[in-house]
Amino acid sequence: MRYDNLSVRTIQVKTGSADYPVFVGRELLPTLRRRISAIAGKTGAGKTGQRLFVLTSPAIWSLWADAFLESFPHDDPPTTLFLDPGEEHKRLRTVERLAEQMAEARADRSSLLVAFGGGIVGDVGGFLAAIFMRGIDYIQVPTTLLAQVDSSVGGKTGVNLQAGKNLVGSFHHPLAVFADIDLLQTLPARELRAGLFESVKAGIIRDPKLFAFMERRAEAILSCEPKAIEYVVAASVKMKAEVVGIDEMESGLRMILNYGHTLGHAIEAATRYKQLLHGEAVAWGMVAATRLGLRRGTVSQAEADRIEKLIHAYGPLPALRLPANRLLDAATRDKKNRAGVRRFILPSGIGDAVVAKDVTDDEMSSAAESMLRTARLAAEPAPALVEA
Ligand SMILES: NC(=O)c1ccc[n+]([C@@H]2O[C@H](COP(=O)([O-])OP(=O)(O)OC[C@H]3O[C@@H](n4cnc5c(N)ncnc54)[C@H](O)[C@@H]3O)[C@@H](O)[C@H]2O)c1
Ligand SMILES: [Zn+2]
Repeated sequence: MRYDNLSVRTIQVKTGSADYPVFVGRELLPTLRRRISAIAGKTGAGKTGQRLFVLTSPAIWSLWADAFLESFPHDDPPTTLFLDPGEEHKRLRTVERLAEQMAEARADRSSLLVAFGGGIVGDVGGFLAAIFMRGIDYIQVPTTLLAQVDSSVGGKTGVNLQAGKNLVGSFHHPLAVFADIDLLQTLPARELRAGLFESVKAGIIRDPKLFAFMERRAEAILSCEPKAIEYVVAASVKMKAEVVGIDEMESGLRMILNYGHTLGHAIEAATRYKQLLHGEAVAWGMVAATRLGLRRGTVSQAEADRIEKLIHAYGPLPALRLPANRLLDAATRDKKNRAGVRRFILPSGIGDAVVAKDVTDDEMSSAAESMLRTARLAAEPAPALVEA
């Protein structure tokens, strides 16, 4: 077969409740059917008679349907379900509509759902699979860098409420994840960069080798050179798989994945999710957390400089013009602040992180102000995000 020469990296995710592979490589999409059947031995996936559903968005389907369908019998393609882009569609009513469509198409408990899209499709698809007939199997085929390195791994699924993002959901791990880096060819550059900030995060909190690689190979990574991007995706997935394997339910170590996210989420909320992509907001959050780490002595000046330089290498980051108190208000409402205790993840040197539970309002406020002074001077604010 023409695809068999390409190497595929496999990372195994092992938690108390799940054990599944994440495949990272090229040309996974046009060979999907065979690959699903190959994991059938263990799971029964891909067996004859099993109904297959694919959840995707119209834009992704128009770019990639041919490659997706290549390995499926032409007279028996999977049933396609669509989700329009944008957080406003990541809602319970969408899940209900999709469940009705599946029932109409005679889905049963042995049906298999493939979530083929970015993090929104993955989160909605995973949640639909978690609750349809009390749970069916699903597979993730992530199409954004963010989904490949972060959201497709770890089993968190869910939808938004008016009151906040991801407030309804469940843990439901996929049977497998196929991260085909060829899919990134059509990803807008800004989406690619935003996703790469999660890989920068992975390097800072747990993988000094990935950090150094991202310092050295920024140009190759940003131009999606296959070998370089494949290494970054695989290393980021490995980092997340290890952390989730140790702490599936986020009672300890998994919290370090929230580095940059306390203020990152606050930035997103304070700008009503309209100015910055998630990864960009996290990048500014990482800058603030690093400066707090510097004040507390968890990183040296030289390490803090290296961290900030790496973050900016994957920019440009859009400017932020916000008063610090708006950010602090939003951070106080963050659901990650359990019972009023503010947990803040600080880098500890390069390649490690600590959870600080005693960050005072003053410390947080001066870290936010210091970051905002830099962020005000950044490139012009990005135009408001308009969903395609
Ligand atoms: N479950 C988790 O653990 C977890 C972790 C992080 C983020 N998330 C969630 O992920 C979501 C964000 O995901 P995202 O950043 O992937 O955004 P997204 O799903 O909105 O995708 C971004 C945009 O890129 C387009 N797109 C996707 N793939 C493409 C491709 N290959 N070519 C061209 N265009 C493409 C999409 O249509 C969309 O317009 C958020 O809802 C967030 O809450 C979940
Ligand atoms: Zn994130």
